Amino acid sequence: MRQMIVGNWKMNGLTAPSRDLVSAIAQGLEAIPNPPPVVVCPPFTQLAATGPLLKGTGIALGAQNCHHAPSGAHTGDISAAMLAELGVEYVILGHSERRRDHGELDETVREKAVAAMEAGLTPIVCIGESADQRAAGEYQDAVGWQIKGSLPDNFNGIVAYEPIWAIGSGVPASTQDIADMMGFIRAELMRQFGEAGKTMRILYGGSVNGREAPAILPIAEVGGALVGGASLKADAFLPIVRAAI
Ligand code: G3P
Repeated sequence: MRQMIVGNWKMNGLTAPSRDLVSAIAQGLEAIPNPPPVVVCPPFTQLAATGPLLKGTGIALGAQNCHHAPSGAHTGDISAAMLAELGVEYVILGHSERRRDHGELDETVREKAVAAMEAGLTPIVCIGESADQRAAGEYQDAVGWQIKGSLPDNFNGIVAYEPIWAIGSGVPASTQDIADMMGFIRAELMRQFGEAGKTMRILYGGSVNGREAPAILPIAEVGGALVGGASLKADAFLPIVRAAI
């Protein structure tokens, strides 16, 4: 299975720079022989503007959230079917910034994952411990509970391990910490999902950049990267894409 590189633009991007960015990534990808799967996740407001530019480029479109209900009285929310209609194929769910800013709980994330799959989207469910949980030595418990609580029984998607303390810090977790947590997450997935848990893709996210990616991506069980800051410039994102195995 080729590794997958996913760009999470977070709350960044007006129309002109968003279109320029996807065009630059698409152009750069053309120069990479046998490129890996690449997904870009612009904010909701740029999905319609960027999606058509991705046709025929091999880059898939992702979103950063969806509501768990198919429609109804949920002011300000977006359903999975609305995303699918725009050509969205992936949706990031339960990012720590949403858990922090919007009080999303494991149970909410699980319901969203179900809704995403029902709409034909592939959920990318984020898990990861806080700095306090790591300092207290409770990081495996924290991540174990998130796996149990956030992934529905019929989960058919991607898990992203993003230690909260590494996000936006400029310094990724150490290769040893990543290796340890990847092994732990794989074991938990196999315990919860049996055979299917053996091949479920696990991404690493948290300050991935072009310099560190060649050391992070070869770590056992790493199925790719979920990239924040470095996904906002083609010349920062493409070296990570090139480092994919
Ligand atoms: O979802 C990606 C993310 O949270 C990592 O962000 O900026 O540390 O690469 P960043």
